[in-house]
Amino acid sequence: MKPINIALIGLGTVGCGVYQTLHIHRQRLEKLVGAPINISTIIIENPDKHQKISAKTNITTDVNTVLNNPEIDVVFEAIVGKEPAFSLLRRCIQAKKHVITSNKEMFAIHGQELKRLATQYNVQIGYDATTAGGIPIIQTIQQLLKANQIQYVQAILNGTTNFILSAMREKNITFSTALDEAQNWGYAEADPENDIEGFDAYYKLMILSDLIFEKQPDLKYVKRIGIRDITEDSLQGLQTEGKRVKHIAKIGYDATGNLTASVEPEAVSKEHPLYAVEGVNNAIHIKGDIVGDLTFTGPGAGSFPTASAMIEDFCILFKKEQAAIAGAPV
Ligand code: HSE
Repeated sequence: MKPINIALIGLGTVGCGVYQTLHIHRQRLEKLVGAPINISTIIIENPDKHQKISAKTNITTDVNTVLNNPEIDVVFEAIVGKEPAFSLLRRCIQAKKHVITSNKEMFAIHGQELKRLATQYNVQIGYDATTAGGIPIIQTIQQLLKANQIQYVQAILNGTTNFILSAMREKNITFSTALDEAQNWGYAEADPENDIEGFDAYYKLMILSDLIFEKQPDLKYVKRIGIRDITEDSLQGLQTEGKRVKHIAKIGYDATGNLTASVEPEAVSKEHPLYAVEGVNNAIHIKGDIVGDLTFTGPGAGSFPTASAMIEDFCILFKKEQAAIAGAPV
């Protein structure tokens, strides 16, 4: 049987998680997708750095090896920043390859265009890993919340800031010690300003906004406040009042019908749906007009949770392909 040939762009925290997951769980995944899985090519900046890759996999810096290889079915993109990721994925789609991305900054800005392009070229695009790490929130909204109109979202979308706020309060450590810990665990961005100042949460909120409300408020109209000025003393003081500080991203229509969004710290009490979300976890609380309140919680950052979201996208994508080949409804 023809294998599913995979190309992987990037071998950092997330890329390594994807590579290892495909190896560790190969048997189960092959059964799920109904074909052998072959990691054909890995694109990285410095091929000499990575010695532990199977000799069967071609490691290269040249993206044309992927674009010009008609055997490659799907490209996993796990790098950071808008470029070169956007241009690479655009070219992959034009070369009729399915794509799966974890790149939130790129997808928040160029996701609409990539989705349009994917429809035009009749390929699929998976982006669950862009938002809330391992929580399958994108697929859940896409597949399982079709009849409901979602009225608003409030969420913890950044694992690093939630980890920092929890650690400062629980362990009475300073902001910078907690940030060091988050970096050591591999949760923070290469430039942790993105986490701390709320840009990362803003990108993820915009991905949800496009999916749910089919538009994205401009950053200049979004109230965005980071967590840098919060002290361990203030967190412990609030704790004695039964409150915790959470860095909350919100989006919904206001009373005048405007779609408004914000990312800012908020002191919440025990009754709040996000109060108990601790450490690197994320959570998304949404209100559907039929179902009412729903909260999804889980690991929001880290190698395997993010890889999990990409691999789930991969399995859904190839199960759809199989069903289409078999003539079953998809
Ligand atoms: N730095 C991000 C976070 C990684 O802490 O949530 C996952 O997107």
